[in-house]
Amino acid sequence: MSTIMNPPAYKAAQEKARALLSSMTLTEKIGQLSQFGTSIYSDSDKLPDAHYSEGEVGSYLTIKGAQVTNAIQRDLLTATRLPIPALFADDVIHGYRTTFPTPLAQSCSWNPELTRRCNEIAAKEAYRAGLKWTFAPMVDIARDPRWGRIMEGYGEDTHLCSRFSEAAVRGFQGDGETVGKDRLYACMKHFIAYGACIGGRDYNSADLSPQTLHDVYLPPFQAGIDAGAATVMAAFEDVNGVPATGNRYLLTDILRGKLGFNGFVVSDYGSVTDMIPHGFAEDTKDAVRLAFEAGCDMLMAGPAYNEHLPALIKEGKITMEQVDHSVLSVLTLKYLCGLMDEPLVDETGEDCFFCAEHMDAARRAACETAVLLENNGILPLCTERLKGKRIALIGPLAGEEGKTHLLGNWACLKDPNRTVSIEEGLARALGASCELVTAYGCGIRCENTAEAHEKESSSVKQAAEIAARCDAIIAVVGEEAEMAGEAYSRSDLTLSGHQGEPIDALIATGKPVILLVAAGRPLILTPYKDRVAALMLIWQPGSSAGDAVADLLTGAVSPSGHLTTSFPVCTGQVPIYYNHASTGKPALGKWQFESKYQDCQIAPLYPFGYGLSYTSFAFEDIRLSSDKMTAEGEITVTLSVRNTGNTDGAAVVQLYIRDLVGSTVRPVKELKAFEKVFVRAGEAQAVTLHLSARALAFHDAAMNEIVEPGKCKLWVGECCTDERHEFDFEII
Ligand code: GLC
Repeated sequence: MSTIMNPPAYKAAQEKARALLSSMTLTEKIGQLSQFGTSIYSDSDKLPDAHYSEGEVGSYLTIKGAQVTNAIQRDLLTATRLPIPALFADDVIHGYRTTFPTPLAQSCSWNPELTRRCNEIAAKEAYRAGLKWTFAPMVDIARDPRWGRIMEGYGEDTHLCSRFSEAAVRGFQGDGETVGKDRLYACMKHFIAYGACIGGRDYNSADLSPQTLHDVYLPPFQAGIDAGAATVMAAFEDVNGVPATGNRYLLTDILRGKLGFNGFVVSDYGSVTDMIPHGFAEDTKDAVRLAFEAGCDMLMAGPAYNEHLPALIKEGKITMEQVDHSVLSVLTLKYLCGLMDEPLVDETGEDCFFCAEHMDAARRAACETAVLLENNGILPLCTERLKGKRIALIGPLAGEEGKTHLLGNWACLKDPNRTVSIEEGLARALGASCELVTAYGCGIRCENTAEAHEKESSSVKQAAEIAARCDAIIAVVGEEAEMAGEAYSRSDLTLSGHQGEPIDALIATGKPVILLVAAGRPLILTPYKDRVAALMLIWQPGSSAGDAVADLLTGAVSPSGHLTTSFPVCTGQVPIYYNHASTGKPALGKWQFESKYQDCQIAPLYPFGYGLSYTSFAFEDIRLSSDKMTAEGEITVTLSVRNTGNTDGAAVVQLYIRDLVGSTVRPVKELKAFEKVFVRAGEAQAVTLHLSARALAFHDAAMNEIVEPGKCKLWVGECCTDERHEFDFEII
């Protein structure tokens, strides 16, 4: 367990909270369990007195800025009987003002330290703006890119997501015993299995076996809780028929009982009253009862707890002990972060926003998260070779219009004017050596009308004419920021609008096309894979986008990103993920009766773990400490990673296993360890990976968590399909 949610600091805070609790009225207690948003706000900075004169408010969301939060705190502390400051919270998901790459992009760095660092900076900026709590990290496993919120998580794999979950929490909260200055309380979300929504349609039902729930979706929450996560957010959707927000089995038995969570649970925005349209609650009062009984301590955004808990207590449906337990959890965290002693923030602290250090961190992160998918050798663009040449830069995402979209969704208090556009970054990097010529091409989205299409066609034609007079073409396609994220599910993952038309027109010029994909989620790149000179996924790289893209295209930085989410050949393949079961008729191409499609391969276009570099690596001298281990044992894998190219670069060493026979069928591959290592050209680095037998534990049909004896395979490679180095081992 982490130090934060444990003695002695936690115990000391809890004692202070207990003393305060004993003096509180019921209204004041329930106020600590009620979070309000801007919706109750008049247009002034002050709240209407009615909202808190009796202490009805304990927390605010989306209200931020040192001056505003200080003003509200002062009002609150003078207008209410007990001086209990409010906990200010917001969605600081991948940056507060300085925007970092989206979490899905960050996971493609395979470097959890990168996420820790991004979140550490985000916490510092947000804390300076009066926030003490973020609704992050989102650790929902996502296997269906039709779901727009895949952009907010860390991909499809449980092991990798767990490593990023703990790093994300440590970045926000730090590693100390308190969550003090320049730190935020983390909030693990969304509990649980929100990414399993049927059809990839946001908020849709999740229907999954207890085994899948425990083996796939729970571990990232366990990792974050073990790292000290102070809060958890309940999810919107119904899980096996019971809405997560009113699901006592999940919020109490599992979250507190099995995972040992001892912080507090907040609902999602409206997820309590959503239980009425779920058909699970008769009315708001019933919904409040169900949520609070299930273990949902705090209600996000609104007065439903204030309005209905008193009656439920009077009717004996909710006990005062239950209320006191929840209030104690909230007050303890208010003491633990120092809010009770220092409710105001230093209003000069906001001068750190977008500072050089933060923008540089954003640039480095964006460089590490990009994934090179194809390269016929045209990259890196050598500035020497470019002397006197003309480069065409095509697409709205490359210029001024793209600045906001390259920040991605959930970019908190983003400032597109502070984004370095791709055009600016390339112009800076290519300088006088060559001429950069830009053209619009076509929109990311297009009205579905003949005249809109006609207008775009002429713009595409113009872009192709400009490009034809150049020596090389860089085209940027993908998504707008508000095309992935909450409530942005898509039924078709091909490039939106008519984006394929300019790509075809640019390829038709005969000039080499370098295609950059800026998106929040996997898209269908099948039509372009073999027709462009290079294909690079830059995701939504954040405030320093242009400088990072320039670093990558000119070779100042060698790409080192590897996919953490499978890229499908076509939308019909989803949900698609690498760690699937074999089935009794695996698609081996031997006969008709196999688990396959008539009209498409079953393998993705680009698999989990895939990514190219400007150099190459050899994994040498791979040794296992043993080919056997007991159920409590461990095998150590050592190897040497040699950079066999002439460019420095970073390799991602991935260790996969397969449990060949199990009492329930086991996945054909499972990532169990990874290490990213930077190696200079011509040099080698030693790497050690650890595989414990416990890592192969799973829940059997009777829901016993077991490590079964049996034969296994082990691979060390650069992608889930890389089987060049295969070993046998056995659990005895
Ligand atoms: C949203 C999201 C949740 C977010 C909350 C506050 O509906 O589901 O992730 O933290 O509301 O913005």
